[in-house]
Amino acid sequence: MKTLIINGGKKLNGEIAISGAKNSSMKIIIASILSSEPILLHNIPYVSDITTLLQILQTLGVKITVNGNYTINPSKTIEIHSPKLTSEMIDYTMTNKIRTSILMLGPLLARNGHVKISKPGGCKIGDRKIDLHIMAMKRLGATIIETDDYVEATTNGKKLKGAEIIFPKISVGATENAIMASVTAEGNTTLQNIAIEPEIDDLILFLNKLGAKITKIGERELFIQGVEKLGSTEHSTTPDRIEAATYAVAAAITNGTIILHHCSIKVFDNIIGILSQVGIDIKPFVSKDHIEGVIVTRSQNNLSPIEIQTNPYPHFPTDLQPILMALMAITHGTSVITENIFEDRMQHVPEFNKLGANIEIQGKNAIIRGVEQLHGNTVSGTDLRATAALALCALATNGTVTINNAYYIDRGYQNFVRNLNRCGGDLRTI
Ligand code: EPU
Repeated sequence: MKTLIINGGKKLNGEIAISGAKNSSMKIIIASILSSEPILLHNIPYVSDITTLLQILQTLGVKITVNGNYTINPSKTIEIHSPKLTSEMIDYTMTNKIRTSILMLGPLLARNGHVKISKPGGCKIGDRKIDLHIMAMKRLGATIIETDDYVEATTNGKKLKGAEIIFPKISVGATENAIMASVTAEGNTTLQNIAIEPEIDDLILFLNKLGAKITKIGERELFIQGVEKLGSTEHSTTPDRIEAATYAVAAAITNGTIILHHCSIKVFDNIIGILSQVGIDIKPFVSKDHIEGVIVTRSQNNLSPIEIQTNPYPHFPTDLQPILMALMAITHGTSVITENIFEDRMQHVPEFNKLGANIEIQGKNAIIRGVEQLHGNTVSGTDLRATAALALCALATNGTVTINNAYYIDRGYQNFVRNLNRCGGDLRTI
């Protein structure tokens, strides 16, 4: 979708099926190329980041079969089979579309001993360095040539070798790359100061099902015993906690009630307290056909302002920073949201203000003075979550909002427009 037009002021009431997590599915799809046997993955969301990733894998010779109604039904299954990888090169036409392509560094090195990847693109929310990925590969014995444009890595004809890796900074991607590279390395690896997002637990679970030997030995510490090779398995990815929280805010911002299916209350474990503090009530709900879900409403008519900082899991996620900011924009009082992960992840603030919000950026902080009512205007999406957040603001206006660059939403939300319209929203795309 290029442009999204939203007529605001509609209370959203209805039901939405939550997809498998994009940020878990992508890593699990990539990790699948570590094995030469067929792998069946369920609950893969139909979003453009995934379709781009599948295209990249096809250029490497990976066979992909999509089963079932991949385009509409929330339950999608794909089979990945990489008996032989015919290329170890990922060029800029691919990597500029998704940043996650850097996560192929570890698996391709482990599988083929050589890889050349153009430096990644993706959402422009900060500097997004890859030094920690490179440090981890070097520790495992790879030789790396890095230029401004690409990273080339080789194991010099040998296997990667287990090592002790201590991350100086917590990184989701570097943790995942190091895990994937070390599962088939020679000997044992310990990883310290790792990221512990639920999507990483999902990746570990998946790899262990394939025959890897990964053990959590401390809160942020893993022990990995290298195995000769990985086998075959079937896996269903964890629900998308960011998608679920986005729709929870859609319910609250329009003062409606939305039932979220395929998403247990556990999906909200680390943020339910914060959402409850601002006035969002999330309760378990089991459908007639016994599918676990939650029911989301406002717990009080007046929402409450909040002071909050983004930090690695289990703290408040950076991906929800713009989403929560949309709600705080119409919440009476002053909220302060501090962005500690990405230095450039406040680009949506001027766009929010075009809709009548009163938000000021002071360094890493956004000072949000809640307004009574947002109004219509034309705005532009700046990254995936920011664009979804603009759509949330639009739902709360008393006018019409035109969102340019709305394609960002397709990167991470399956059936976004359809889901909201089925709850009574008035959204259309051009
Ligand atoms: N960093 C470095 N060096 C590195 C790697 C990261 O300095 O080698 C820095 C980054 O610049 C950033 C911080 O470490 O300041 C954290 O980055 P991290 O590596 O954790 O992020 P990521 O793996 O690139 C994933 C998600 C993001 C999410 C972040 C943080 C995927 C595909 N992406 O990115 O999701 O915001 O973790 O939780 O899993 C999104 O879904 O919209 C999205 C951007």
